[in-house]
Amino acid sequence: MPRASENRFRNLPQGFGIKWLSRNSFTLGGYKFNIPSSLADLMFNAENVANSEPDSFYLGKEVEILQNYFGLFKQMSPKRILDLGVAMGGSAVFLQLAAKPQRLLALELSTTRADLLDRFIKNEQLTESLRVEHGVDQGDATRVRQLCDEHLGKGRTIDLVVDDASHLLGPTRTSFETVFPFITPGGSYIVEDFATLPIFLNPWLEKAAEHEGSRKLVEVALRQFLQEDHRPLHALAMEAILGSIADPGIINRVIVNRHWLRIVRGGKEIEDPDNFDLRAMAVDHFQLTQSSLIDSLTPYLS
Ligand SMILES: C[S@@+](CC[C@H](N)C(=O)[O-])C[C@H]1O[C@@H](n2cnc3c(N)ncnc32)[C@H](O)[C@@H]1O
Repeated sequence: MPRASENRFRNLPQGFGIKWLSRNSFTLGGYKFNIPSSLADLMFNAENVANSEPDSFYLGKEVEILQNYFGLFKQMSPKRILDLGVAMGGSAVFLQLAAKPQRLLALELSTTRADLLDRFIKNEQLTESLRVEHGVDQGDATRVRQLCDEHLGKGRTIDLVVDDASHLLGPTRTSFETVFPFITPGGSYIVEDFATLPIFLNPWLEKAAEHEGSRKLVEVALRQFLQEDHRPLHALAMEAILGSIADPGIINRVIVNRHWLRIVRGGKEIEDPDNFDLRAMAVDHFQLTQSSLIDSLTPYLS
């Protein structure tokens, strides 16, 4: 008979040695992780939670995202992983302990190294297999390619990419185009929280007419997730779908849910892998990817 305390967590992701302590914390491989309770908690409270327990890892992934990973790791065992946007280290440590890859490369724009992550690498004797590079922009194709070649190997060697970095369309597409040609057949490129903007906009816009606070939130969200061209990250899902229709040998399939965009690599070689152009794969006859801001949103950006 399962104990009552175990029953409480039966709907949370299970396997790979995870032990839930609450709905927002668990242990894995002897390390404690705290996770956000919701997307809003992730957006506005991450720093508080991350700093609240100095010896625990903060993993910026909601339960639903973890469900996706546990499902994925039951289907495939990625041997070579690229983690984009490692923050304070939680994602790299989680991927290391859950998937146990032979090689893991973690890249981060910030130049501040995470002491806890460095200690983890040393204690677990992972200095050869887990490489963390700071000060790397996911939009810097040359640097990303060079680091992948060095640590993950040349050619089609990468089984899994986890992109949780800028959440902006431009740099996200650049790193996708840089790395996707070098993913193994059946391997995946994942963009986490690719739809944060539309998820937030609907409820906030409804309240914005009456509440100044909600109005401010709409402004903050638009400024955080849009560049000058005003195109949102979720346009990438449409571009990938058009690509998969045009050539499933290259983009085998696109799997989308609220929390992630998973683009699965087909078996076909890309003719010029160093210059892969997602939008050139398919003519967008109906301008499905040519988004522009609807009039009602423009006042929030003025
Ligand atoms: C949401 S956090 C990542 C959380 C982490 N993956 C986790 O699950 O705990 C996003 C990180 O991406 C980094 N970032 C933002 N823009 C980036 C870029 N252009 N290239 C690389 N990293 C970037 C940020 O500095 C931040 O640390």
